[in-house]
Amino acid sequence: MPEILVIGATGTTGSRVTALLREEGVPVRPATRQDLAGYVRFDWANRETHAPALSGVRAVYLVAPIGVAEPAPLVEPFLHEAVRQGVERVVLLGSSAVPESTSGVGALHRLVRTIVPEWTVLRPSWFMQNFTRESLALRTRDGDILSATGKGRVAFVDAADIASVAGRALTAETPHNTEHILTGPEALSYDDVAGIITRHGGGPVHHRAVTAEELARHFAGHGMPPDFAALLAGLDADIGTGSEDRVTDTVERVTGRPPRSFQAFVEGAGDACGSLSRRSRTSR
Ligand SMILES: NC(=O)c1ccc[n+]([C@@H]2O[C@H](COP(=O)([O-])OP(=O)(O)OC[C@H]3O[C@@H](n4cnc5c(N)ncnc54)[C@H](OP(=O)(O)O)[C@@H]3O)[C@@H](O)[C@H]2O)c1
Repeated sequence: MPEILVIGATGTTGSRVTALLREEGVPVRPATRQDLAGYVRFDWANRETHAPALSGVRAVYLVAPIGVAEPAPLVEPFLHEAVRQGVERVVLLGSSAVPESTSGVGALHRLVRTIVPEWTVLRPSWFMQNFTRESLALRTRDGDILSATGKGRVAFVDAADIASVAGRALTAETPHNTEHILTGPEALSYDDVAGIITRHGGGPVHHRAVTAEELARHFAGHGMPPDFAALLAGLDADIGTGSEDRVTDTVERVTGRPPRSFQAFVEGAGDACGSLSRRSRTSR
């Protein structure tokens, strides 16, 4: 039976897409660069891994190369090879912050919708999973969560809801052939988020508003390439001007159930959610 190839299968959304398809009895081929039993080897940087990973595959969940500013030269030949081998459908993980464009990550949207017969571009808002302790480490200083978002709001979305939409897009009889902007049920500022984590999770947690320049320096100080650090900090500044202050009904429309709220996410994550705060540790 033809399988679904899941790229980024060890990651935040790919792991959930893999688990969900398995639960539904859909044959899945999870991919990783690592040497893991039950996974196929796949590395965007190693073209020799692409064709073997695609053999017998009918659909692909595509997480593009991470941190690559111009991924099209890697992804375009992969898509042609995929179609040559009989892949009919691709679901691309994009981002609400990145519309279709002629260059950069937004260029992948056009490639997918023009090369592959059946396609979906998922454009999720920022992930709730960014607030687990592990992910937050990059944004934490002296126990505070740093952002350059000011009072700007984001409708954070649970990766499990993204995976549910991806599962539908991969397996529905009728292809979606569209972009989906995916959000959680409410737009929240980082102050709101810190308050919810403090009240319902592993708090106390504080948000410290900084400038985009200061945030970029902070990211770069943690080893991030300066141009990527500036790009990420710039996305925070965009949030400050209202770029992510919207809620869509897509998760409910596609899956039939409403998206998870941030409070429910924090309550579910419990102690795993919050900052690496001195105050958190000493308050216990
Ligand atoms: N975080 C957010 O708020 C957010 C919001 C919207 C969109 N997104 C998008 O979500 C995507 C994933 O971001 P994430 O930070 O959550 O990462 P992630 O999915 O948790 O991890 C990245 C995954 O990609 C795989 N990977 C990395 N480099 C690879 C390569 N060269 N070849 C093949 N596989 C590779 C990794 O697998 P192995 O290490 O096992 O090989 C891992 O499974 C990004 O495209 C990002 O733009 C994120």
